[in-house]
Amino acid sequence: MLETVKELLQEVNSFNPKSEKEVDFFRLKFLGKKGKLNELFADFKSVPNESKKEFGQVINMLKQNAQAKVDTYKGTFETESNDSEIDLTRPVSLDNLGSRHPISLARNQIVDIFNRIGFTVSEGPEIEDDWHNFTALNLPEEHPARDMQDTFFIQTSPDVLLRTHTSSVQVRYMQENKPPIRTLSAGRVYRNEAISARAHCIFHQIEGLYINKNVSFADLKQALLYFAKEMFGEKTKIRLRPSFFPFTEPSAEVDVSCNICNSKGCNVCKYTGYLEILGCGMVDPNVLENCGIDSKKYTGYAFGMGVERIAMLKYGVKDLRLFFENDVRFLKQFDKSI
Ligand code: PHE
Repeated sequence: MLETVKELLQEVNSFNPKSEKEVDFFRLKFLGKKGKLNELFADFKSVPNESKKEFGQVINMLKQNAQAKVDTYKGTFETESNDSEIDLTRPVSLDNLGSRHPISLARNQIVDIFNRIGFTVSEGPEIEDDWHNFTALNLPEEHPARDMQDTFFIQTSPDVLLRTHTSSVQVRYMQENKPPIRTLSAGRVYRNEAISARAHCIFHQIEGLYINKNVSFADLKQALLYFAKEMFGEKTKIRLRPSFFPFTEPSAEVDVSCNICNSKGCNVCKYTGYLEILGCGMVDPNVLENCGIDSKKYTGYAFGMGVERIAMLKYGVKDLRLFFENDVRFLKQFDKSI
């Protein structure tokens, strides 16, 4: 045993490191928790009494010399070793990339689909005035249809509110641009609704507006059929049901065939075979006139959809609240969709 210790002592005495790494390695080997010295001190018990003195002296010497080497060399290579450890040619690690939020994924896909038929995105303020959100859209003051959109008013002024739909952006766009107009307004909207699996007080909308000479309801139907097929698959069918919106006449609500049960009926489509995705219609001439467009010369169609609703159908999400909680376990599932 004494032999081994002497060999170690020799190793320590002749230690002549070339890098910080070697010093660290040396320190761990001899002075570390599981290092040689602790091993030797543990073995000390089993050394016969008569050799304890000599043995003890050598181990102590070993410890002192090892510590002295570390003290001498530690830190002397710092800059040099740091430089050599950086490999500038190494590809960037992608391990910790986040994932896109499913609402962004759905939004980008919707925008992309309409881009291909000439629609470009326009944006506007989330804090709106009454005129852009309601009056211009054929909803005069005291009109009962205002109740359809539970509005958050800004307390200090009854004229200022959080926009309840992105149609307000379309109003602004019509005021600033001449037909032909082909625009998509995308963004956050606010309604004073109780939060549940199907509704939230904040959500995202994408609304489309096309104004030109001779735009017809058939054009609207065709654009929406194209959208539904691109978004939900080639076999998707659409169904239009008559509806009412103050800013469009005629108006309709659009359903897509349920691709979960192939329209046979399931609990997602409530056994109807269809799922509602958006509202639409021909722009009311009053709206065109309010925004400075000659309604004798031009006609147009408009549609509006909730992005959450589309994302729920597309990704099979049953509770809308998940989109707002930002639980990484939920969000991570969309990693591959980037
Ligand atoms: N703005 C309507 C809403 O938020 C949707 C819509 C847009 C309906 C355009 C018809 C035409 O409910």
